[in-house]
Amino acid sequence: MTKYIGILTAGGDSPGLNAALRGVGKAATSYFGMQVIGFKDGFRGMMENRIIRLDGSALSGILTIGGTVLGTSRDKPHRMPVGGKLLDMTDVIVDNYERHHLDVLVCMGGGGTHKNAYRLMQKGLNVITLPKTIDNDVAKTDVTFGFDTALGIATGAIDRLHSTAHSHHRIIVVEIMGHNAGWLALGAGLSGGADVILIPEIPYDIENVAEAIRLRSRAGKNFSIVAIAEGALSQADAKTIRAMEEKVDKAKDKAAKKKAKAKVKELKSLHKGNTLRVANQLEELTGLESRVTILGHLQRGGAPSAADRLLATRLGTACADFINEGVYGVMVAARGEGVEPVPIEDVVGKRKVVPLDHPWVKSARLIGANLGD
Ligand code: F6P
Repeated sequence: MTKYIGILTAGGDSPGLNAALRGVGKAATSYFGMQVIGFKDGFRGMMENRIIRLDGSALSGILTIGGTVLGTSRDKPHRMPVGGKLLDMTDVIVDNYERHHLDVLVCMGGGGTHKNAYRLMQKGLNVITLPKTIDNDVAKTDVTFGFDTALGIATGAIDRLHSTAHSHHRIIVVEIMGHNAGWLALGAGLSGGADVILIPEIPYDIENVAEAIRLRSRAGKNFSIVAIAEGALSQADAKTIRAMEEKVDKAKDKAAKKKAKAKVKELKSLHKGNTLRVANQLEELTGLESRVTILGHLQRGGAPSAADRLLATRLGTACADFINEGVYGVMVAARGEGVEPVPIEDVVGKRKVVPLDHPWVKSARLIGANLGD
C-alpha cells in the first residue's frame, strides 16, 4: 500500500534543511513509491492546512540552497497565536494529519520542535524527527545539520577579524550564536585561533580574561580576539541564575513556580547586551581599545557546506528507509558513519551542552587559549 508522508520544518532555519527535504522526498517518492506533501511554515502551516506537493520538480535544484523551501516558524501547536490570543490548536493539526490520510509526519527541528513532535505523538500521530540546528545542542545525536556550515562562517569571520584587530592593536569581541550551548563559539574559537573563548558551560571571571589580554600585551601582542558565545555568563550571573532555577525546581505550588520562572526569564533578558558589556569592561581593565562584532543571523544564511549536505542527505534518506520499515516515534540520529533511530521521548527536554572534559576544551587549554575561568 502506498504510504503518505507529511513533512514540516520548524524553529530557526538551518543550512542543510533543503538537502534533508530532498533526501527524504527523493528516496520516498522515487525509490519507495510513496506520496509526500510539505506543510508551509512549520506547525502554523499544518494548522492552517497550507501544503505543497513534494514531488520531482519541487525537490529538484534545492540541494545547494540555504534556508528551507517550506518556510518555518517558531509557533507551537499548543500555544498558537490566533486572533490576538494564544490557543491550543493541537486538535486542528491532528485533523489535518487525518484529512491527508498521512501515515507519518516528519518534523525537522531542534529542541523545541522535538517537544512539539512528542506532544503530537501523544495524540496518536506517527512522527519521525530529524535533528537540525546550527547550535548542535540536540541530545542523543553525534551532530546536527547546519552546525558545520555555521562553524565555517564563524571561523571565516574570526580569520578576517584577526587582520583588523592586529592592525589597530585592538581587542575585538566577536559574538557567536549557539543559544545556551558553546559548541559554535568553542569550535570557531579553536579553529579561528581566538585568544579568549567564553562559553556558557564555563562561566567567566572578567578580571581573569583581562589579565590574559594584559599578558599578551606584555609579550608584545597588542591585539586579542575574544570569541564569546551569545549565552556566555559571568560567574556572578551564572550563580544568580542557577539559584533561581533551583527555586523553580523546588517550588511547592504552581504560583511559586510561575513567579520563579518569570524571574529566571527576567534575569536572562537582562543578559542581552552582555557582549557589549564585556567589551567595555575589557577596554577599561586593559586600556586597549575594543570593538564588538555580532555575527548574528549571518551564521544561518547561505549554501550548506559539503559536510552538511552529506549529513542531511544521509539522515533524510535513512528517514525514508525507516518509514518504509514502519519505524516511527524516533529521531534519526547521526551515529558515527551511520544513523540510529532514537526514541523521541529520550531526546525531549534534554540539551547537549559541551562537557567540561570534551577534547575541544582540553585542546583549547593546551594551546593556551583563555577560557575565562
Ligand atoms: O537555534 C538557532 C538560533 O540561531 C540560536 O543560535 C539563536 O539563539 C536563535 O536561533 C535566534 O533565534 P531567532 O532567529 O528567532 O532570532
